Amino acid sequence: MTSRDPSLPDDTGDLADEELRRALDRATAIAADYLRDVGERDVLPQIEPGDVSRQLGVSPPAYPVSMEIILDDYQRIIEPNLSHWNHPSFFSYFAITGSGPGLVAETLAASTNVNAMLWRTSPAAVELEARVCDWLRQMIDLPSEFVGHINDTASSSTLVALAAARHRAFPGVRQLGWVGLARELQGLPVIYASEHVHSSIDKSALTLGLGTEQVRKIECDAEFRMDAGALARAIAVDRAAGNHPFAVVATAGTTSTTSIDPINAVADICERELLWLHVDAAYAGSAAICPEIRQLMGGLERADSIVLNPHKWLFVQVDCSVLLTRGYDGLREAFSLVAEYLETDEDVVNPMDLGPQLGRRFRALKLWMVIRAFGLDGLKRRIRAHCAYARLVAERLDSHDKFEIVAPVPLSTVCFVHTGGDAANVELIRRVNATGKAFLSHTSLGGQTVVRVAIGNLRTTPHHIDALINTVISIGAEL
Ligand SMILES: Cc1ncc(COP(=O)(O)O)c(C=O)c1O
Repeated sequence: MTSRDPSLPDDTGDLADEELRRALDRATAIAADYLRDVGERDVLPQIEPGDVSRQLGVSPPAYPVSMEIILDDYQRIIEPNLSHWNHPSFFSYFAITGSGPGLVAETLAASTNVNAMLWRTSPAAVELEARVCDWLRQMIDLPSEFVGHINDTASSSTLVALAAARHRAFPGVRQLGWVGLARELQGLPVIYASEHVHSSIDKSALTLGLGTEQVRKIECDAEFRMDAGALARAIAVDRAAGNHPFAVVATAGTTSTTSIDPINAVADICERELLWLHVDAAYAGSAAICPEIRQLMGGLERADSIVLNPHKWLFVQVDCSVLLTRGYDGLREAFSLVAEYLETDEDVVNPMDLGPQLGRRFRALKLWMVIRAFGLDGLKRRIRAHCAYARLVAERLDSHDKFEIVAPVPLSTVCFVHTGGDAANVELIRRVNATGKAFLSHTSLGGQTVVRVAIGNLRTTPHHIDALINTVISIGAEL
């Protein structure tokens, strides 16, 4: 082989400068048109499973396809067949927004394509990540010992937090693993969370080698908040049986109803019992930038770790989940493992030491741009508006004899039922979603199917809220 070998490519194969600019200009136009007009589309595509696959090439192309054709196909096959999370009437799960500043940041992050695994591999990304996490810490009024780093999702952040909790309680697990420790431990390691905790906590436990039975589900009060007395009793039962409690997960903003566990009471128990307290504030943590909402989370500052997702309610593109912990040591002790080829001599915090992954996307850029472009006041105003819309939905439906509000509305999510029972609720959701004008989801409370309206998109206006209420009332009247 020589450098003149004709089988070697004589160009990069990448887009030439002019082609790149043309493609980016077109992508910019597509994105801006999409965001301007997304509210005119049906929220959900009216398609069946397999409809998209049938339009996609079965085999990969052997030869280059022009960006013109690829973007045509994107507009023809992909974009219209998405469920539109950026639609102002997307009220399912937790509604979110990928905002303009976040979009700009994601484009730039993709252009630099840095891998923020070590300070050396991307100094600005690593330092920006620490700084924006500290901004967030200040925004939700936490003491300065909390430090943050960014993961993809709350599921990952919680996994990392519970791994640190496990390491603090059972340092031998790092060398011996659970199986190796079993002989010495005899009893079972256990963690506690409310019966309304998100499934990601069970998945973390599974990943860490616990069984789902070792995630004790603590009963809740009438407002879906963990009963701290029941927590204390469950821990006592486990201790008496020779088991090993090591962590409690409290939720600030549960998925079904957005209830907030009594964090102070749970923290009292954790301090007394020497248990790690992790707070899952994936959804509601962003709203804690409003002091009146932060007040609902008294005791948050006593946690060992807290997860909040700016990609849920701080208008940052998926994915962006911030894990705040008291210093980095707990994470480093659980995870740091520096291969020779990754050693550097700077005295810095290297993000690869804070979790299982080595390679890391440059997520801090979008969080930084969104916080700056909205400003703290701008973010607070939007969150307060979403909460006000939720109160309006609750008031209007509650005053109607066909509907009942079945959970308090502390934030921006409303849970209600139709008086016709489960079948009517399922049918109501089906028909509302079939209109294409709104997207609702369900949950289960006390064995009952419940309709959820989750508000959190920047483009949602009183007009969309009115339209939703009117649609629900008119469909509800037919059931
Ligand atoms: C309270 C809560 N925790 C965790 C999660 C999981 O979030 P993620 O998709 O970022 O893993 C969710 C998802 O909605 C949630 O509502």
